[in-house]
This record gives sequence, structure tokens and C-alpha cells, in this order.
Amino acid sequence: MTHDLKGRHFITTQDWSVEELGRIFDLALELKRAKAEGRPTPWLAAKTLYMIFFDSSTRTRNSFETGITQLGGHGIFLSPDTMQISHGENARDTAKVLSRYGDAIAIRHCAFGEGNAYLREVAGHAEIPVISMQCDVYHPCQILADYLTILEKFEGRTRGLKLGVAWTSAPNYVRPLSVPQSLILMMPRFGLDVTLACPPEFRLMPEIEEQARANTEAAGASFTITDRFEEAFEDADIVVPKSWGPLMTTTDVQEGLRLIEKYPDWRCDAERMALGREHLIYMHPLPADRGREVTDEVIDGPQSVVYDEAENRLHVQKALMTLVMGG
Ligand code: CP
Repeated sequence: MTHDLKGRHFITTQDWSVEELGRIFDLALELKRAKAEGRPTPWLAAKTLYMIFFDSSTRTRNSFETGITQLGGHGIFLSPDTMQISHGENARDTAKVLSRYGDAIAIRHCAFGEGNAYLREVAGHAEIPVISMQCDVYHPCQILADYLTILEKFEGRTRGLKLGVAWTSAPNYVRPLSVPQSLILMMPRFGLDVTLACPPEFRLMPEIEEQARANTEAAGASFTITDRFEEAFEDADIVVPKSWGPLMTTTDVQEGLRLIEKYPDWRCDAERMALGREHLIYMHPLPADRGREVTDEVIDGPQSVVYDEAENRLHVQKALMTLVMGG
């Protein structure tokens, strides 16, 4: 049983049932077919999406903005420095005012300890749906695209597939926890067996690991945490080797960067990929740190599906917007 999804916020997949998430994937595939066949889908004609970016983006901004255009609506790019947020306007006033004008508010705010709280506060006051474009805790739209890609590559059969989520060493900045956390939360709900590999300093938020365990048990899947990099690859069907910060160990940036440098060998290469099943696919949400997170040979090689994955951001987000904005 699914419900009318118009007006629903999308801040984490945890707030949506498997059936409701399934409606996004069905509609995304329909929209993808329509685009390939050149059929217009003006299902959000004259509707407006506000996109507030506290952090930079290539894929998220362009896939949302292109998506709302393809649906006949309009996307407005906003950032705190061009809004009165820069002068201290609060989440309530921003939410109330934008609700009087348009049809949805999408927000990216990844500051650790702040982003999710801001999204929740806007959602608490908004009369239109709030969509997460990534926060410090979740990146739900990325994981929708990841699952659609897996569905396509494995022809609809995902139960029992092994997904390795592996931490990688990328030195230039401390990345959020949101991608691995969203992966371990949602993928077991669709029957995937997840192995999370990370050094001890890079464990995820304890409450998220706990929720992932509960989701796994409810779905009859498996969830393993290891501090051995190779375990994420062994007999895997899918790997997502991806860097994140040691934020459960330290929020000090210099200390975080030092800890990242402690494990330079945590890099996805052909030798590690050879540990997986013959059809193992390499995924990464991008941007990837080439040479540090992954070798060019792997990311540009035949097992890599990173551009299909990035493309699917467009299709899942068009489906999501259609459902929550009432197209
Ligand atoms: N994967 C992802 O969210 O990419 P951007 O940071 O470029 O939006």
C-alpha cells in the first residue's frame, strides 16, 4: 500500500517505506524512457523549485536544475551569501516566505552538526516539501541514483548481492559521512548484503550503524563492519570505495587530515577489483580523487559505471520532484 506522496519531505530514505521508494524507481525508469524517446514530460509546468546551496556542487545542482526544466518547471539557484541568511534570517522565516511563492525547497548543507538540523528546521516550518540535496548525515538522492544503477546493471535482481562500501584515503579535505551512511541504511532494505570496511578512526555515527543493523535484520539481509579494506571487495558484486572524514574521532580538520594520511594504501586498484566476482562493478558518487581514492585504470575501465550513476541522479530526482510536488 502506498500513499499519495504530494507534500512529503525527503530528508532521509528512513522516512519513506520500501513501497514508497519503489514508486520513485518505477517513475524514474518511465521518465528515463520518455527522455530517450524524446517524449516531453511537462508534469511540473509552472512549478518552482528553490535550491539553496551552502556547499559547492556539480552533479546535484545541474541534475536538479535540468530536471525541473525538463518537467516544465523552473529551478532557482540560491546560496546563503545571496540571501538574507547571510544577515542572520532564520530557517523559519526563510521557510514561511518561500512557501508562499513556490512548490518545493531543496537544500544542501553539509556542515557537521548543523546541516541536518537546518533542513529539519526548514521542513518543520515549510508548507511545501523540503528535499535534501545532501546534509552532514544523509545524501538520499545519491543513494536513489545508486540503487537505480544497480537495478539496471543487475536486471532488477538485487536481493543477495554483496555491496562493499570501503573507506578510501583522499587527502585534500574532510568529506561528510552522508554517502556511506545513506548506503548502509537503504541498501539492506532492498535485500543487499552490505560490508562496510574502514579504519577504526573512520567509523560512522553509532545511531546510523544501529539503524542499519535494524534495517538489515528486518529485511533478512546481512551487514558486516570490518577494518580490513580487502573484505569489501572479496566476492563482491558492487563496490563503492569512497573517502569520508574521521568525524566520530575528531572534528579538528588538521587532525582529521593527519588521520586520512595514516592509511595511504586504502585505494581502489585493479588488484583489489580482482578480488570481486567476475561482474563486479565500481561505483563512486563523484567527485573522485583520482590517484588517491582510485586508479585511472579502474575508474576509466570497463567495470566502472560512474557516469551511468551520475546520469541517474537526473532521473530519480525528476521522479522524486514529480511525486512530492504533485505532478
Ligand atoms: N555526487 C554529488 O553529490 O556530486 P556534487 O557534489 O557535484 O553535487
